[in-house]
Amino acid sequence: MKKIIYFDNAATSWPKPVSVYRKMDEFIRKWGANPGRAGHRMAVGAERIIEETRHQTAQFFAIKDYQRIIFTLNCTDSLNIGIKGLLKRGDHVITTYLEHNSVSRPLEGLVKKGIITVTRVNHSEDGFIDLQELNKAFTPQTRLVVIVHGSNVIGSLQPIREIGKISKEKGTIFMVDAAQTAGVIPIDVEKDNIDLLAFPGHKALFGPPGTGGLYVGPRVDLEPWREGGSGVDSEAELQPKELPFKLEGGTINTVGIAGLGAGITFIQKEGIEKIRQHEMELTKYLLEKLSEMRKVIIYDTGDGEMRIGTVSFNVEGLSPAEVGAILDESFGIACRTGLHCAPYTHKKLGTFPEGTVRFSLGYFNTREEVDFAMNSLTQIVA
Ligand code: ALA
Repeated sequence: MKKIIYFDNAATSWPKPVSVYRKMDEFIRKWGANPGRAGHRMAVGAERIIEETRHQTAQFFAIKDYQRIIFTLNCTDSLNIGIKGLLKRGDHVITTYLEHNSVSRPLEGLVKKGIITVTRVNHSEDGFIDLQELNKAFTPQTRLVVIVHGSNVIGSLQPIREIGKISKEKGTIFMVDAAQTAGVIPIDVEKDNIDLLAFPGHKALFGPPGTGGLYVGPRVDLEPWREGGSGVDSEAELQPKELPFKLEGGTINTVGIAGLGAGITFIQKEGIEKIRQHEMELTKYLLEKLSEMRKVIIYDTGDGEMRIGTVSFNVEGLSPAEVGAILDESFGIACRTGLHCAPYTHKKLGTFPEGTVRFSLGYFNTREEVDFAMNSLTQIVA
């Protein structure tokens, strides 16, 4: 098989650091028991690794109480646990047109049932939400502000510290969807005034698919919607009240979480600044090359610092799906095409319903790969 050029890191990062593969292999062979459910050495060993990873993850986001980290299946799972566990009848929510379906669908579901109302704040053409409009959107019923940190379509990065401050002043819970940023943009839940932080384990944190997490801050009390075994208080009729057990019913993805721990260790060793710098240099290079290309229309936030490594574009005369298929079949380039599960963003961009071609770069991509992709696109355009 031809060498793959993987430009789909916004969907899930690939490859993973070798240490992640090794850790998961070692874990399943040695510690493949159920943590917290028994006192034998394998269960205790598994629990030790999970709790170490919980500590490490908490530390990574400057979280003081590590038990406020809940391990989940992915960022969508975390967002659902947060949104559905928090909101009550009559609540009002402020969000944006840049959200992924993992935020907009749970919210819309609650709107359709008549439980909540939602206000969406507009954004500028380059993808930054209007803070004045945000300020005006609060009502006495506003319970939650939920926003995506980095757009998975046009790459803009929202000023979460400022938005968190506004939310705090208004006495509202602030939830951040860090699907595209956890692992590449430093996040500090205290300084950024975050009450609920939803993040995937399998993207920039380099864990495997099937991993994610939710930070639940002290101002928040969530109702669990998944109840069951927790390994503690088995005699109680109801789900235990303590975190993480309250929100972590059922056997967790131990192998994946061990891999996630190795992914975070990799970032800590490399340095998040170095990772970020590499992605930014490469993204700016890609943008520069793309903008020189005829028949290519770029939908992007621009080359400023408030961005991530995700770039959307289209080729005149071809559908995004056609471009993606040719890139894959003829050139071995893996990217995502279509709506990227963010239909509201495409409606604003004017790219609905076909969407865009999206290149999302990661730490393991190189300048040579960008050059190859640009060469391939030139041939497609011609
Ligand atoms: N949310 C992921 C993406 O944008 C899956 O591709």
